Amino acid sequence: MNILVTGGLGYIGSHTCIKLIEAGYTPIILDNLYNSKKSVLNRIATITGKMPIFYQGDIRDTVYLTTLFSQHPIQAVIHFAGLKAVGESVKNPLDYYEVNVQGSIALAQIMRQHQVKTIIFSSSATVYGEKNPVPYFEHYPTGNITNPYGWSKFMVEQCLIDMQKADPEWSVVLLRYFNPVGAHPSGLIGEDPQGIPNNLMPYISQVAIGKREYVSVFGDDYPTKDGTGVRDYVHVEDLALGHVAALKKHDQAGVHIYNLGNGVAKSVLDVIQAYHQACQRVIPYKIEARRPGDLPAFWADVTKAKQELNWQAHHTLSDMVQDSWNWQQKNPHGYPDEE
Ligand code: NAD
Ligand code: UFG
Repeated sequence: MNILVTGGLGYIGSHTCIKLIEAGYTPIILDNLYNSKKSVLNRIATITGKMPIFYQGDIRDTVYLTTLFSQHPIQAVIHFAGLKAVGESVKNPLDYYEVNVQGSIALAQIMRQHQVKTIIFSSSATVYGEKNPVPYFEHYPTGNITNPYGWSKFMVEQCLIDMQKADPEWSVVLLRYFNPVGAHPSGLIGEDPQGIPNNLMPYISQVAIGKREYVSVFGDDYPTKDGTGVRDYVHVEDLALGHVAALKKHDQAGVHIYNLGNGVAKSVLDVIQAYHQACQRVIPYKIEARRPGDLPAFWADVTKAKQELNWQAHHTLSDMVQDSWNWQQKNPHGYPDEE
């Protein structure tokens, strides 16, 4: 079964391609390399023994997409491609709406033209906004979002829901990720942020390896157990398997929405402490001001994915930090441009 994986060379996409191959699927990767390197392909091949088919192209390029769909029979699309930096989206909102929203619409239109009616979309816990109580359940209202990145996810969800309403043959799976971290246990693939990492785990990794001096802890006066922000960290290996589980919805038309998280709440200081234990190095940190737009605490209710997809996360925070550290040590400068 051929699965088109947009953004398949990125962090979550690359881990998912490995799980797809291991489950007997054939991923066909479309990526414009905006935030990834071609050398990821070799790493996937080393781990799985199979070199995935790769197209270097843009989801907004409908001519290119048409060629791709004409060359391969495709049964379903897993749609990761997009921009994901919250702060950058506040500065350049139009870029985010263009790539994330316009790009998703272009992709869905070409899918429709080729009668491919199953899409699994990378959404985010950010769509729950700032008004819902925790933990988040899938039936909660979405909206009240604090940044254009989050709104772009909200808008794509709405486009896909309306599209499915108009043509009930579609199967639309919206996966709302919580905080993906960790890396493949081989240390061959992992998260490779360009420049200063925006997210906590890659930042801690760079402090641990000596690339950065200390971790800035954004606020210690939240109403949480130790005052620092609380999140639901989920191992990228578990997350990747969630996509394989979601593919089972291929023949079930409708809109299917799932939280993919651990259902476990951890603070910033919990993560720093766990990382310290994994790497046996001091992780210096400084308490700083809150980061604008951050919520104090959120985590997932994960019952629905367990009941309907038979999926649940198994890796602990200790597994996550160990695999992050293993990846960081083996790839202190991230992926090479060529390999
Ligand atoms: P990533 O940046 O590592 O991967 C995205 C991939 O898409 C990259 O390889 C990039 O080159 C590619 N891409 C970007 N624009 C493209 C375009 N116009 N055409 C073709 N390819 C394009 O990000 P990730 O962390 O793997 O995230 C994957 C998806 O999951 C994204 O949609 C992201 O918004 C979503 N998500 C991520 C997180 C997270 O914390 N990582 C959380 C929630 C949701
Ligand atoms: N944090 C720090 N210092 C840092 C980075 C982060 O203290 O250098 C704190 C944040 O304040 C927050 C926690 O660590 O309390 C996690 O922050 P991240 O930036 O790692 O993750 P977010 O929860 O802010 O956002 C992530 C993704 C979003 C996604 C969201 C929900 O970046 O794309 O999870 O899925 F929308």
